[in-house]
Amino acid sequence: MISQYQESLLLPARTFQSGSMDTTYEDVLEHVDSGILLFDEEGVLTFVNKQMYGMLELNRHSLLGCTMAHLLSHIQLGRFKKKQVLRSYREMVQKGKQSYEFVDEYGRYWRASLCCGEQMKGSYLFTVKEISDYKLIEQTAYQNDSLAMLGKLSASIAHEIRNPLTAIRGFIQLLHPHLHQLGKEEYGRIILAEIDRANDIIHEFLTSSKPSVPQVSMIPVSALLKEVVLLTESEALMKGCQINLHPLHGDMIISGDVKQMKQVVLNMIRNALEAITERDDDQIGKIEVGARREGAEVRIFISDNGKGMDILTLDRLFNPFFTTKENGTGLGLSVSDRIIKDHGGCISVSSRVNEGTRFVISLPLIQ
Ligand SMILES: Nc1ncnc2c1ncn2[C@@H]1O[C@H](COP(=O)(O)OP(=O)(O)O)[C@@H](O)[C@H]1O
Ligand SMILES: [Mg+2]
Repeated sequence: MISQYQESLLLPARTFQSGSMDTTYEDVLEHVDSGILLFDEEGVLTFVNKQMYGMLELNRHSLLGCTMAHLLSHIQLGRFKKKQVLRSYREMVQKGKQSYEFVDEYGRYWRASLCCGEQMKGSYLFTVKEISDYKLIEQTAYQNDSLAMLGKLSASIAHEIRNPLTAIRGFIQLLHPHLHQLGKEEYGRIILAEIDRANDIIHEFLTSSKPSVPQVSMIPVSALLKEVVLLTESEALMKGCQINLHPLHGDMIISGDVKQMKQVVLNMIRNALEAITERDDDQIGKIEVGARREGAEVRIFISDNGKGMDILTLDRLFNPFFTTKENGTGLGLSVSDRIIKDHGGCISVSSRVNEGTRFVISLPLIQ
């Protein structure tokens, strides 16, 4: 059934009655799904709609009559909002960009646009529109695309990397008697185990974009962490960084694929080491590794005092191929995330720029 309002849309065009224009247009502007700010040629705010003052979390009357300078020093305008308004102003008015995208303190995406110049007769029209839905679609499409690409690249990468690994493996075996004479067979054993692990990783994660079936066994968390810390300690020392493994209380056992689990913790420690080296002050790098029981789960944490991450990085760090490093692959965390999900767990992360990052892996414990 067509309502009275829908019906009026179907009426033939009729002569426009002046006088009703301003209020009609204002009504329309009041209800569009974008926020609107209109400054006149003297820079005074003459119109603001509901969307906009709602987004700024201010009331309409305290805004009308303000200039941009007044708005920026408005005592009720939150610190985060102030930054966003100032950034948008700089990008669009000072740098002349037509639009500017930002993320607000609630994680919503917005696009701000500016219309000014002759067509506006000296007025400035700012509009903002929430684009979170588009961003989500864009990200999902990007992720799907990336995964498809990952599948295609994987076969050739696996082939290229496994050949030299096989050669290295062979030569290490030939060196075995010499290492034995030197009393350093342990080094040979570690090299072989690491080559085998690298081979497995390539095979399991790069030859297929589908998750592999984990080889399930019981894994004591303390042994897992000890082994990974041992593997990364020398690398950390070379970078002047300390890894502190917290003593664990009680035996915590998880069930899963030990190689995959090692890979996850290793990825995170390597990322922490890289974040520490990328920090530009002389602070001593520290990585804390540990685990504690939380009900029926274990929380494994890896925290660092590295360079930290901004909100845009935090938003995308689990996307395949997302990297901020010149030589990064952007695969470490996307693969880790999949492994942990396959094991019925999840990864959470908190970070502050120039302070550090903390990753927490939650996994179900075997009772
Ligand atoms: N501990 C950390 N501190 C700061 N940034 C991090 C940390 N861990 C991950 N990141 C960010 O997440 C991105 C993705 O990480 P990852 O998937 O391991 O790929 P890669 O290490 O190859 O870049 C990194 O490029 C980095 O920007
Ligand atoms: Mg990495």
